[in-house]
Amino acid sequence: MVYDRMMWLVRSFRREMNAMKQHEKFDHKVLHTHRFPRSSKYELEWMLANEMGPNALWLTEELSKYVALEDGFRVLDMGCGRAMTSIFWAKEFDVNVFAADLWISADDNWQRVEEAGCSRSVFPLRVEARNLPFATGFFDTIVSVDSYQYYGTDDLYLGYITRFLKDGGQLGLVMPAMMREFETPPEHLTRKRASGTAFWDPTECWCMHTLEWWQRHFERSGLVEIESAEYIEDGWKLWRDWELIRNGGGFTGFPSEAAVLEEDAGENIGFVLLVVKKRPHSRGRFDHSLTIRL
Ligand SMILES: C[S@@+](CC[C@H](N)C(=O)[O-])C[C@H]1O[C@@H](n2cnc3c(N)ncnc32)[C@H](O)[C@@H]1O
Repeated sequence: MVYDRMMWLVRSFRREMNAMKQHEKFDHKVLHTHRFPRSSKYELEWMLANEMGPNALWLTEELSKYVALEDGFRVLDMGCGRAMTSIFWAKEFDVNVFAADLWISADDNWQRVEEAGCSRSVFPLRVEARNLPFATGFFDTIVSVDSYQYYGTDDLYLGYITRFLKDGGQLGLVMPAMMREFETPPEHLTRKRASGTAFWDPTECWCMHTLEWWQRHFERSGLVEIESAEYIEDGWKLWRDWELIRNGGGFTGFPSEAAVLEEDAGENIGFVLLVVKKRPHSRGRFDHSLTIRL
């Protein structure tokens, strides 16, 4: 029993070390410059210092290929984390971005925004996604990267968030996702790593869903028209590559997911990308902030 446990620990440790050793192959400047020319302009150190999971700039650049932005648009970046994505939208597309997040304070993000030279175009605020302080129809566009899954699975939420969008405005999302629905997660996702944690945390990971799940979730509300809905091509590789870069960068904030993603090879885990357009005059009748039906 003790021997088995020791061998298991050695095997997990080796698996993680092997994945980490590969990081030398994953210089982001070389690997993803072609696919993500905009993101490649940003300093790797800055991205590593401010990341909160998969590479937010790559995912945002992918999303930007599907969202139609015009100069001066008012954009809500919901769940912006450390506001890297908000800075990216403002710099790359000349839009004004309200950088809204719960876990990261406005002070923290404001410092980053000023350092990035975006104090006239990015406005940080700390808010709960279900209690937004904006006027109806205020935003031209709403975007969210690696965040919407935390609150957007609520059947009533689409009606709430699109209230702040003008008629015909786009809501663009990228989220970690299941590539297929399962009742029991595969063993490699729940296996504990040397760090003692597993990739699959059942208190959190069930908010991930398949593309079909999200399409149905949005379509049946009647509030929006789906413009784009797809799995990001090689999404799992992008996530794995970023994990390898993080390992090489010495970041220690979260346990590495590289080995698990490598083993999964996109069978179960990837990213969905959805862009939906608000139908004219559509309006959710449930206001989360007041918890009343209007
Ligand atoms: C995994 S982090 C991603 C941050 C950022 N989008 C990025 O990709 O770097 C998820 C973010 O969602 C935000 N979030 C989660 N639940 C939220 C809620 N109920 N209201 C507002 N923000 C929320 C958190 O504050 C956190 O910054």
